[in-house]
Amino acid sequence: MSLIGIVLAAGKGKRMKSKLYKVLHSVCGKSMVDHVLSGLETLKVDRKVVIVGHGAEAVKEKLGNRAEFVFQAEQLGTGHAVLQTKELLQSEEGTTIVLCGDTPLIRTETLADLIVNHNKLQAAATILTAVIDQPFGYGRIVRNESNEVTAIVEQKDCTSEQALIHEINSGIYCFNNKKLFSALGKITNENAQQEYLLTDVIAILRSEGELIAGHIAGDFTEALGVNDRVGLAEAEAAMRKRINTAHMINGVTFINPDNVYIESDVVIGEDTIIYPGTFLRGNTTIGSDCVIGPDVNLTDTTVEDGVLIKYSVLTQATIGRDSTIGPFAYLRPGSVLGKGVKIGDFVEIKNATIGDGSKVSHLSYVGDATVGLDVNIGCGAITVNYDGFNKHKTLIGDGAFVGSNVNLIAPVQIGDGAYVVAGSTITQDVPSNDLAIARERQSNKPGYAQVLREKLNEKKK
Ligand code: UD1
Ligand code: CA
Repeated sequence: MSLIGIVLAAGKGKRMKSKLYKVLHSVCGKSMVDHVLSGLETLKVDRKVVIVGHGAEAVKEKLGNRAEFVFQAEQLGTGHAVLQTKELLQSEEGTTIVLCGDTPLIRTETLADLIVNHNKLQAAATILTAVIDQPFGYGRIVRNESNEVTAIVEQKDCTSEQALIHEINSGIYCFNNKKLFSALGKITNENAQQEYLLTDVIAILRSEGELIAGHIAGDFTEALGVNDRVGLAEAEAAMRKRINTAHMINGVTFINPDNVYIESDVVIGEDTIIYPGTFLRGNTTIGSDCVIGPDVNLTDTTVEDGVLIKYSVLTQATIGRDSTIGPFAYLRPGSVLGKGVKIGDFVEIKNATIGDGSKVSHLSYVGDATVGLDVNIGCGAITVNYDGFNKHKTLIGDGAFVGSNVNLIAPVQIGDGAYVVAGSTITQDVPSNDLAIARERQSNKPGYAQVLREKLNEKKK
């Protein structure tokens, strides 16, 4: 007996009015079809089959080898879509779950419950339904006097009475595999849409005396089907709320969870506080006891325990514990900070390692560099890493002091404990413990300020 998952993802999604195929639109940083497939992965089904059509190549590329793919050349309806798997699946003994690629909020736990119910009742089909305030656009669940499901009727085919039904079809079903394919052979396109509707399988099985069950989702948002940008924003809001709630339950404090945007795969440790205006994206991981925000944007960034970050943008960076970042810092890919590092205001770091206890406190650019332990980089000091053709490396040893407004013209190496005097333009290596000064010697002309003013005033007249 096998458990099979089929995901319908061949439609173009006309109502999205988009160049991007519908199921590739993101909800909290992950494409809708990816959300659905992830659910099947967690469920550990034996086979996962994704029906692709519009944008097939793009969808396949996105999902890689995570599923088998079946091509639906013409989109003649959801029933027609499932029929494309006939050759591949019809001989399987077992249970088949069918999901739509545009239903990103479905939870694995709900799918598991659906299967348990289906098996308990030994139903031919179990429909995941939901009761919603505004059922317009969804297929309606029609039940008889004994409360048994008899059919699903699509919006366009609804009588005015059926249109008043609030129990809707989520587009997610559990089928006895053999019975599914036998009924699919009998559907026609004689309906308002002139499509082969998967939902017609229900009435067919019912008319053959099979048991159809309805399993009502406790949380109606799980059934949310995204057909346009309004639905997309609704799904995003519902998913955001779910993600933020899960973090709060895990011990993360949110000053205002409605204004924090966290993608699905982000991990946050206990007792971290998140301030408003914060975006945490991709594979970002944050440790315990951090304070993140206000207005922080982290993408694919790793932050260890006890780090403070405010008003800053970090991408593909790694921050050691007890470091502080910002306000107004920009850490670009390859920024790797040790423990207790301080990165202050208007500092940009790129492809650079900064050792434990080092400080880059204000107005600096450090790129393509390796900075040792306990280094102080003064205000306005920069690495000059690019000559218009190539990038060059700067190495700064442990305990070195780089004064304010120093230009380090790479490639260049500053030794351990070296001292670079403020305002220097360094073009040669500085050995360990040496002092380097590289700036024009100053000369003062006594009383000349007044002479100059008089001269200039004279000219003005
Ligand atoms: C479908 C259901 C409706 C349900 C709703 C839940 C049918 C006939 N109707 O309607 O009862 O309430 O979902 O969200 O099933 N697709 C294909 N090939 C096709 C047509 C569609 O792969 O030929 C895919 C789409 O890409 C989409 C999914 O099937 O991911 C659902 O199709 P859609 O057109 O969005 O169906 P709804 O009108 O929303
Ligand atoms: Ca839909």
